[in-house]
Amino acid sequence: MTKIIINGAKGRMGRALLACAANRPEIEVAGAIDQGDDLAAILPRAEVVIEFSFHTVTPGVAALCAQQRKALVIGTTGHSAGEKEEIHAAAGRIPVVMASNFSTGINALFWLTRKAVEILGPDFDLEVVEMHHRLKKDAPSGTATTLLEILSAVRQVQLRDALRHGRAGIVGERTRNEIGVHAIRGGDVVGDHTVIFAANGERVELTHRASSRDTFAHGALRAAQWVIRQPPGLYDMQDVLGLK
Ligand SMILES: NC(=O)c1ccc[n+]([C@@H]2O[C@H](COP(=O)([O-])OP(=O)(O)OC[C@H]3O[C@@H](n4cnc5c(N)ncnc54)[C@H](OP(=O)(O)O)[C@@H]3O)[C@@H](O)[C@H]2O)c1
Repeated sequence: MTKIIINGAKGRMGRALLACAANRPEIEVAGAIDQGDDLAAILPRAEVVIEFSFHTVTPGVAALCAQQRKALVIGTTGHSAGEKEEIHAAAGRIPVVMASNFSTGINALFWLTRKAVEILGPDFDLEVVEMHHRLKKDAPSGTATTLLEILSAVRQVQLRDALRHGRAGIVGERTRNEIGVHAIRGGDVVGDHTVIFAANGERVELTHRASSRDTFAHGALRAAQWVIRQPPGLYDMQDVLGLK
């Protein structure tokens, strides 16, 4: 039995986590909290916190978990460099899984993207397109950012130099090293991601479409069961799935 606390329980992901956990007898929801609730007070009840709220909230949650030696699963996206540093500091004391996307399909897409960019080589232009529901607060999505990090790492370019967020005006011809990213917002789309590899005469596109948040929720619950058995450190979903 894994005892979990869900932070951000009233949100879209929080509700999906509660529904999925209810169908899994090996998981006990020891707490479901949201804005205004006191995590420190109920933390002793659980072994692991699953955090899906807002980027400014995560460092405080991580510090509390580190203080009380509880494991942490972070699904929240959009963290600043400073917030990431605070999460890394906490991961020196407790095991933390942080993943921009907990779905198995997306983690397969991460793997395929790395393979494709290696195979296709430098002649292919790289672009990432993502679409999410109109209520999403950060852009581009954390998943798109992970895809961009994979592409830039294989190409051995600095992402901050290569990145082009959409294009507007007289931007000139596309340069060889740039990597484009385009964030579309509308309706109730759970999450679509496409990586485009375009060369003269041919184009490869890898697409993943999520149609239910349950896929993220099941992955996050699986990560929670896994992380409580790990030594302190920062892990991702590829570690949980044994893909490394
Ligand atoms: N890694 C993945 O697989 C994955 C998948 C989907 C989403 N996400 C990410 O997960 C995050 C949440 O997404 P969502 O769609 O569930 O958002 P959401 O519907 O806005 O839910 C977030 C919830 O957290 C609450 N919250 C805000 N501040 C809080 C605080 N200080 N303490 C506790 N709860 C607080 C919000 O309350 P208020 O509404 O009152 O502010 C809301 O109920 C986003 O960063 C999103 O990008 C990740």
